[in-house]
Amino acid sequence: MSFPKNLPRLNVDGPLIVGAGLAGLSAALAAAGEGAKVLVLAASPLGEGCSSAWAQGGMAVAMAPDDSPALHAADTVAAGAGLVDAAMAALLAEEGPKAVRRLAALGAPFDRDADGRFLQALEAAHSRPRVAKVGGDGAGKAIMAAVIAVARANPAIEIWEGADVRALLQDKAGRVRGALVARNGTLTEVVAPATLLATGGLGGLYAVTTNPAEVRGAGLALAAMAGAAIVDPEFVQFHPTAIDVGRDPAPLATEALRGEGATLVDAAGVPFMLRYDVHGDLAARDIVARAIHHEIADGSGAFLDARAAVGAHFPVAFPYVFAACMDAGVDPRTQPIPVAPAVHYHMGGIQTDAHGQTTVAGLFAAGECASTGVHGANRLASNSLLEAAVFGTRAGRAAAAAVDPHTPPLPATPMPHLPAEALQTLRRAMSRDAGVVRDHTGLTRLLAEIAAMQRAYGPATELIAARLVVSAALDRRESRGGHFRQDHPGSLTAEHTVISLYAPNFESFAVAAG
Ligand code: SIN
Repeated sequence: MSFPKNLPRLNVDGPLIVGAGLAGLSAALAAAGEGAKVLVLAASPLGEGCSSAWAQGGMAVAMAPDDSPALHAADTVAAGAGLVDAAMAALLAEEGPKAVRRLAALGAPFDRDADGRFLQALEAAHSRPRVAKVGGDGAGKAIMAAVIAVARANPAIEIWEGADVRALLQDKAGRVRGALVARNGTLTEVVAPATLLATGGLGGLYAVTTNPAEVRGAGLALAAMAGAAIVDPEFVQFHPTAIDVGRDPAPLATEALRGEGATLVDAAGVPFMLRYDVHGDLAARDIVARAIHHEIADGSGAFLDARAAVGAHFPVAFPYVFAACMDAGVDPRTQPIPVAPAVHYHMGGIQTDAHGQTTVAGLFAAGECASTGVHGANRLASNSLLEAAVFGTRAGRAAAAAVDPHTPPLPATPMPHLPAEALQTLRRAMSRDAGVVRDHTGLTRLLAEIAAMQRAYGPATELIAARLVVSAALDRRESRGGHFRQDHPGSLTAEHTVISLYAPNFESFAVAAG
């Protein structure tokens, strides 16, 4: 193993936050609010390369008179197919309204009625209309614009754009001490009292995804290589209605369209969802994704027909979906939208407690790369921006309180990235064999391909993340939530997958999560 020698080193006094989506910036603002100086590393310019800014639906929050955090938590637990941590779901639901009001106070222009009350829409598997939206389908972009402006204006928050984290730094006891950062062609050791990963999901590892291409499981790989426990990586959520017009990434047709009454039909215009589930078009996301997968596989085709439910209002009610459709030559006012499932969200992730603490001292995680336990095997729609805001804030506060041990970091080896062509090969293989429907034959073949790529290209972050997903999918010999094994279609007793990929031989491997 070769370590780069004599690298420039920067010691920072406060938390180092890796990632600048809603979780990362919520953490930065919370840490700065505690009086900490914060350094945020973003691989892309702020607002780009993060899924938060692409979210259409909004934030699920119990604010209506006939709703309650208990009902929201119960829906979250029910959607998660036996693997949601009920206490964490209750925490998420209880802190939700405060998080939305905090974002509104920062300038996020949530849709309101004439009396200033938040408008709330219905989405699948919610027992109440409770999704707070912005401009119909523009929640992510508008919320991120507000948060980015506030973060940029905060003198306690320094932001490095174009910064790619290539390894975590650890001291001889295994405590994370910062990160090895590539920026402007230079590797720098950034040493910090606490490091918080908020790098998002891994949709970019798949050929068909609604996520930005940059989102490729980097945080999962970095944390795994530092010895952190990874929970349930096999649970990948496929959004049922990506717009199927051959675009990469695939544009999304928000679930809120079905909340408004749009229906899924086959190529002959016949509705099909009631054949799969009594809840029809508003069944849980995994059920709808599998139904659409089957309709497409058997040649029937799948389309979202919003002509009657939305029709002429489309440009105002769902401007982003409308623009994406028109751009592809589909007028959703007069034509059904061709749809197909696409990777949308990663339920699994780096194990954390309610304060973002991972199983490795000095390392925190928040947002999609983390596993707080709120999503289980199938995330409830519009719970992800909420989780980013609630747990990003909690993790930021905890990271700000971390005491600097002043221990020197050991030299770290930068993890490679996959070359572009190999990445495309991996993406195709992941969509083929670790998609909506999985089996032993496909997963075994895929694992062998990943191993061969690792021999050729080394432990690239993309390969480490892909291997976590695929090996856990192979080991889970049952079907549950987003993970469907056609060779094991039934469910067993609900159990989590917990993987410690790498057990470094540190003097004492501090475990701090509780
Ligand atoms: C959507 O708008 O359908 C996506 C919402 C989500 O993934 O939470």
